[in-house]
Order: sequence, then structure tokens, then C-alpha cells
Amino acid sequence: MDIELLKKTAKQMVATGKGILAADESSGTCQKRFESVGVPCTEENRRAYRETLLTADGLEQYISGVILYDETIRQETNEGEAFAAVLEKKGILPGIKVDAGLKGLALHDGEKVTEGLDGLRERLAEYKTLGARFAKWRAVITIGKDMPSDACIHANAHAMARYAALCQEAGIVPMVEPEILIDGDHSIGRCYEVSVAILKKTFGELAGQDVAVEGVILKTSMVIAGKKAAKQAGMEEVAKETVRAFKETLPAGLTGVAFLSGGQTDEQATEHLNAMNVMEKLPWPLSFSYGRALQNPVLKIWAENPNANIAKAQEALLFRSKMNSLATQGKYSSEMEKERPY
Ligand code: 13P
Repeated sequence: MDIELLKKTAKQMVATGKGILAADESSGTCQKRFESVGVPCTEENRRAYRETLLTADGLEQYISGVILYDETIRQETNEGEAFAAVLEKKGILPGIKVDAGLKGLALHDGEKVTEGLDGLRERLAEYKTLGARFAKWRAVITIGKDMPSDACIHANAHAMARYAALCQEAGIVPMVEPEILIDGDHSIGRCYEVSVAILKKTFGELAGQDVAVEGVILKTSMVIAGKKAAKQAGMEEVAKETVRAFKETLPAGLTGVAFLSGGQTDEQATEHLNAMNVMEKLPWPLSFSYGRALQNPVLKIWAENPNANIAKAQEALLFRSKMNSLATQGKYSSEMEKERPY
């Protein structure tokens, strides 16, 4: 294992003022997103939309890496330049989603386990030749009656550790993503308990497979009440409880954390991140790896007129990226939203 290379890449991913753009929606998820804005989800439309994201001028000021999907890492710009090469040229790290999606966990109705370990060593070798420097694997934990089960937490944590070890062997930084879904009516207290349980188990399993945490980025959800909870937690409480869960579970050597947005509004995702970064100094940089919270306005603007609105859509992406970049440094304020170009 080339630990120095892994450390260097991981540090670059969470460098000061920078975060990650998640643009790795599978074709199925892309279908849903495109349908919501009335654009047919053809391969060419997916390509054109991703080109709009990746070619935004100056993106590298705020974005250190972009997560691509299998189809996307093989695609090119209109001028015939591979997307991964476009990113490399800007000094942005290309990343790749490598899990094969969610399946029902046997004997556990309503719970999911992430698949994709079979053939992963070979797929990682190919992705490396295509330019990938880090790889994401997403596990999903649902909070509900008698859920999550220990079996679900264990199966997902173990799979994440197996994938992370394969990534490090290949010289690719694993971006380990346990996501606790925001769906449901659970309290922030329940989310705290489940967050601690999944994070503890995940780092235990990573250690069990001899994964070096200095070459890992944790991508996870914030500690937050379920969307349908009668009592919603305030911004300060989300920030405080998330940091408290991290202090209880994350090893000091971990290189950094990049949050997912998970269905929070764009502004909430930025505000919560900022609130954590104005609190005390922590051993890990807290950054972002947002999909929807960076792309929501961009997709909407682009979809209104995919030929004419490219520049406007890119402006929106740069604006949201800048707001989140400021939030990683605790320098964001909601007043800044008045400067929104959309
Ligand atoms: P969201 O920020 O839209 O949750 O997406 C991030 C992601 O990559 C989920 O796997």
C-alpha cells in the first residue's frame, strides 16, 4: 500500500476551502432528477448536463474533486476531451462511484445492504487507468421500528471495510459513505444513537481489515431529525450533535469528513456546515460532498433551455460551490444569499 500517495490525495480532497461535487447519480437516479425538470434522460442529455457541470470556469477554486458514474467517466466533451482529463487539467481529482447499489438484506424486511464487491479489484484497476483517484461506496441505513438491526449495521460496515481495503491496495482513496436516511419521523436523539452505532462499527471494521484511516475520507450524513419529525432541531443543535457524535467515534488520524446533503435544502446544507466550522477546532476538516445541494438550481436552470442556459447554469453551480467553500471555513452567512445569481 502506497500510504504517502493515499494521504496526499485524501488531504487534497479536503484542502482548505474546498469540497467535492457529487455528480455520480446512477442512470436510475438521473432518470428521477431529469423527470422532475421535464428533460428526457437520454445518454446524450446526461452527457451534455455533466459537461455543463465539469466545464464551469473557475470551479477548481472551490471544488477539489468530482465523483463520476461509470458511464460518465467514459464520456467526453463536445470537443472530444475525456471528462476525467478536463478535471485533471483544472487540478480537480476525478472520483468514481464503485458500489453496485442497494439490495434487500436477507431476513431483514425493509433494510438494505450495498453490493459490489465481486470483481471490484478488476474494476478499480480499470477505473485507475481512466483517471480515478478516489472511489465512493454508499451504504444506506434506515431508521424505523426495530431498525436499523445489528445485522444491517454489521453487514454494511463489513462491506465498506472490504471495499476500502481494495481501494487502498489499488492506490485509490476510499470515500466511505454510511448514510442515515433523513426520511422518517425519528428525533435528532434517535439519529444521534444510530449515527454513533454505524460510525463505531464502520471504523471497527476498517481497523479489522487494516485500512489506514489517514488515507480515508468519511462521507456521511449530519445528525438531524427525520423529515417528518414533529419537532425539528435547530441549526445549532444539528451542528452540536453531529460534532458530538464524531468526537465519540472518529479516529484522530482520519484525514477528513465530507458531508452528503441527503435531502436538506440547499441553504440548510450550507448553514449547518458553517455552524460546525465556527465551533471549536476539531482534528478533522469538515467539508462537503453534496449532490443535490450543489446541483438543484443548476439542473433547473439548465433544463429550462439546455442549449441557451449553459452559462447561467454554471454561474449557479459556482455560486453554491462558493457558499459551501466559505462554510468549510466558517465564513458563510445567510445574508450572502442575496447575491444569488438565480
Ligand atoms: P446528496 O448530497 O444529494 O445526498 O448526494 C450525495 C451523494 O453522493 C449521495 O451518495
